[in-house]
Amino acid sequence: MDKRRIYLDHAATAPFHPEVTEAMLPYLGERFGNPSSIYSEGREARKAVEAARSQVADALGADPSEIFFTSGGTEADNLAVIGTARANRERGDHIVTTVIEHHAVLEPCHYLENEGFRATYLSVNSAGIVDPEELREAITPSTLLVSVMYANNEVGTVQPIEQISAICREAGVYLHTDAVQGVGALDVDVNRLGVDMLSVSAHKLYGPKGTGCLYVRKGTKLQSIILGGGQEKRIRSGTENVAGIVGFGAAMRLAVREWKQRSEHVRPLRDRLIDGILQGIPYTRLNGDRESRLPNNVNVLFDFIEGEAICLKLDFQGIAASTGSACSSESGEASHVLLALGIPLEEAHGSLRLTLGRENTTEDVDYVLEKLTPIIEELRQMSPLYPG
Ligand SMILES: Cc1ncc(COP(=O)(O)O)c(C=O)c1O
Repeated sequence: MDKRRIYLDHAATAPFHPEVTEAMLPYLGERFGNPSSIYSEGREARKAVEAARSQVADALGADPSEIFFTSGGTEADNLAVIGTARANRERGDHIVTTVIEHHAVLEPCHYLENEGFRATYLSVNSAGIVDPEELREAITPSTLLVSVMYANNEVGTVQPIEQISAICREAGVYLHTDAVQGVGALDVDVNRLGVDMLSVSAHKLYGPKGTGCLYVRKGTKLQSIILGGGQEKRIRSGTENVAGIVGFGAAMRLAVREWKQRSEHVRPLRDRLIDGILQGIPYTRLNGDRESRLPNNVNVLFDFIEGEAICLKLDFQGIAASTGSACSSESGEASHVLLALGIPLEEAHGSLRLTLGRENTTEDVDYVLEKLTPIIEELRQMSPLYPG
């Protein structure tokens, strides 16, 4: 077997950027202080956390006081949905979201429904895009929060957040966006987007796992969901993950500096992969929108076969790919996103997601195309449904 590995699952997680590792190393060693301690080890740690907060704020066009560090995207999403609902009960009991959100938003909505809140799950068109007019109609006087993801983790569809934020502002409703897949690939200036809350996760940005933040616009009423020592202005208790936060700050500094260049690097590779697959392999379709799409996302449906089988065979050839989101890969369930796009259950199992990153090259793409074609043919030959 070829020992060469080609990593094409950047939507699941991205490898560490060397500058991120370098920034973190002292905080995994001699700089071990607790940022809440008043002596010099503590003050050093506090300084590092606050420097990272400024880096994250700068990358989002926010004020450092609007950044709340969390254990990643999941916690940021949970805090935004549950924390806003609980703090604004007097404003209403209704949340508007979409059927293609990450489970980190959908599950808190289901949880709140059990607590007596109501939720509307907007559908999307066959390309995975939310209709802003439908969203406008879904907002009622009792709506307190709208949560629509910036970019989808499975099919890469980018939502019209600026249009959506204009509607929310007019209606006087808070808007949260899960930008976990958008940061580092798109412009994420919170004022341009017009959002009140925005979730970020460091490990999708060549940073460490278990770290991220929720941006919270000044004046937004939010209740804590983790109670304890009162860190992060009582919004998120728990001793800060100093090394992780430092790594996150470094990853955000790099992301803001490099996002255009990173996008320009992966976009032609993405298009080469999409065109190579669609033109070279019959019975294939692109999932998601061709235009309003993350620059690094390829998600293709292969008729008559299972995505899992393709992934295993690709892995054997040195290629890391996935069928969809990391969670749906584990449970083996069909992706709720593909089903929401109107793809029938039997066909949804035939999807393959390839997500590119800064270290991928044209040679990688050509290698994948070379290996993929015979793998698909071999698997199809085993399917009784394949017309041949
Ligand atoms: C869109 C989206 N939201 C939230 C998350 C969860 O982020 P984390 O892994 O940092 O908890 C992910 C990660 O897969 C994601 O892709």
